[in-house]
Amino acid sequence: MYNFTFKNPTKLIFGKGSIANLSTEIPIDKKLMLTFGGGSVKTNNVYNQVVAALERHDYIEFWGIEPNPTYETLMEAVTLCRKYNVDYLLAVGGGSVIDGTKFIAAAIHYGGDPWEIVLDDTKIKKVIPLATVLTLPATGSEMNGGSVISKQATCEKYAFHHPLIYPAFSVLDPESCYSLPIEQISAGIADTFIHILEQYLTTNNQSMVMDRFAEGLLLTLIELAPQLMKNHKEYDTMANFMLTATMGLNGFISMGVKQDWATHMIGHELTALAGITHGVSLAIVGPALMQVMRDDKREKLLQYAERVWKITGENKEHVIDKAINHTADFYRSIGIKTRLSEHNVGDDIINEIVERFRKRNTILGENRNINADKVLQILNLCK
Ligand code: NZQ
Ligand code: ZN
Repeated sequence: MYNFTFKNPTKLIFGKGSIANLSTEIPIDKKLMLTFGGGSVKTNNVYNQVVAALERHDYIEFWGIEPNPTYETLMEAVTLCRKYNVDYLLAVGGGSVIDGTKFIAAAIHYGGDPWEIVLDDTKIKKVIPLATVLTLPATGSEMNGGSVISKQATCEKYAFHHPLIYPAFSVLDPESCYSLPIEQISAGIADTFIHILEQYLTTNNQSMVMDRFAEGLLLTLIELAPQLMKNHKEYDTMANFMLTATMGLNGFISMGVKQDWATHMIGHELTALAGITHGVSLAIVGPALMQVMRDDKREKLLQYAERVWKITGENKEHVIDKAINHTADFYRSIGIKTRLSEHNVGDDIINEIVERFRKRNTILGENRNINADKVLQILNLCK
């Protein structure tokens, strides 16, 4: 196990009716900005609950943070925050609204062009506090210090991280998720599954505790997925999914272990250049990456096969093949199209992604050995 420091300062407020807690959790003397996406919160009673809880607070609203939030839209919010001296942000929505709000929080007091903090997060010095009301289980953004921002002008998408952008608290009411379209549930399941794999599927024998936590979350998702596909308006099913998604990327399964994240880095390019939904992009890339990196990940793939999919056998290569196929079948079982051809993505996009990695000299993976040539191999397997 590697040395590590662990701190997660986000307070979780979980359960039905818990949006009402906003009235006491947010200090009354703050000038608040509420941030929203495209309007789903007006159709599912979330907006009404938020404004009822904040009736004594002083706030302005900012609407229109889009999926894969853009620098261009977020800068409009930054301008408004500066104009009205906003000193507290409340994000109400999915990962995109939350990530966008983290960017706003860090951009308000930044002296230069805030895009610079996306490219180099060590430049973040002062952040205003933020909190969230989560409506889509997937990203873990409600309880982590990460944010992913896109730039429309250049079709780029990058993640940045900072200890100051953890939400102060997050409200998770499973009933807020009943209105989700089934495609977002599927994408959320895939995103969560792959967050866990990015932290688990590296080298074996690093941490018994992390392995068992991660395997427990993977098994929970495999059990929940068909239930969610059948009926995602059942309280305990959604509550379990919501908590699994949060636990998948809040630092609790990454203590003292190597992490991969190559599937995410390649997936972000597919979203930036071809508009593929985040979780779907990962379900396309993930199994191909396992295949190309099977020698590096051999022992952990065998452990994953046995403990998660109950696959054993004398022929270890067959066991690994089966584990990879089970993983892809799992994504397909929740309705995700896992081939690039099914999304009309061809060689032009593949070549552009590979060229981007080549130009940036990006080396990915837990062993820092996935270069542009390997990315090409991976993407060719996704066709
Ligand atoms: O905009 P509205 O109208 O709210 O609609 C949204 C949006 O169209 C809708 N939605 C959300 N909650 C709903 C709902 N519709 C009905 N009922 C509800 N309860 O769902 C659509 C997608 O929302 P979005 O926030 O984009 O989805 P998600 O939570 O999957 O976030 C994706 C973004 O998070 C980033 C991704 O790259 C992507 O940009 N990620 C952030 C991470 C982090 N901060 O740690 C890690 C992840 O790996 C990921 O990269
Ligand atoms: Zn993700």
